[in-house]
Amino acid sequence: MMTEQTLIVIKPDGVKRHLCGMILSRFEQKGFDINNIKSFYFTSQKAKEFYAPHKDKTFFDDLVTFITSGMVVACILNGPNAITTIRLMIGATRSFESAPGTIRGDLGLGITDNVIHSSDSYESFIKESRVIFDRII
Ligand code: CMP
Repeated sequence: MMTEQTLIVIKPDGVKRHLCGMILSRFEQKGFDINNIKSFYFTSQKAKEFYAPHKDKTFFDDLVTFITSGMVVACILNGPNAITTIRLMIGATRSFESAPGTIRGDLGLGITDNVIHSSDSYESFIKESRVIFDRII
């Protein structure tokens, strides 16, 4: 199995609902290492950079408004097949369609407010980590 790094961001709804400990413990229990962690507020400029792949989507403005609406917690996780496995643990984008047992399936109902983001590829991990940590870990 290939050891990889990936990035997760617990969104403002997850932080406000005090879900960070529970979410991070799921990743630790699965066997992933936390390599770096940071709580912060996205500026509008950083949010637009982070969500640049969605800049032409109808929901882009809502996305930026939501992710800048409160504190977030970003974390670099390390472990076997981290990108794919953590996407599976998080569940489908539309929380109300996300399978029970996944983070969104157990903890969320929204689409924009879907508790957590994770990188969907190695390329996204590199770009997103640069936006948030200003360097690759
Ligand atoms: P995230 O994993 O952060 O990546 C892009 C985000 O766009 C996604 O989670 C959703 O929160 C958000 N989003 C808002 N509206 C939509 C939509 N109609 N389809 C897909 N994603 C959406």
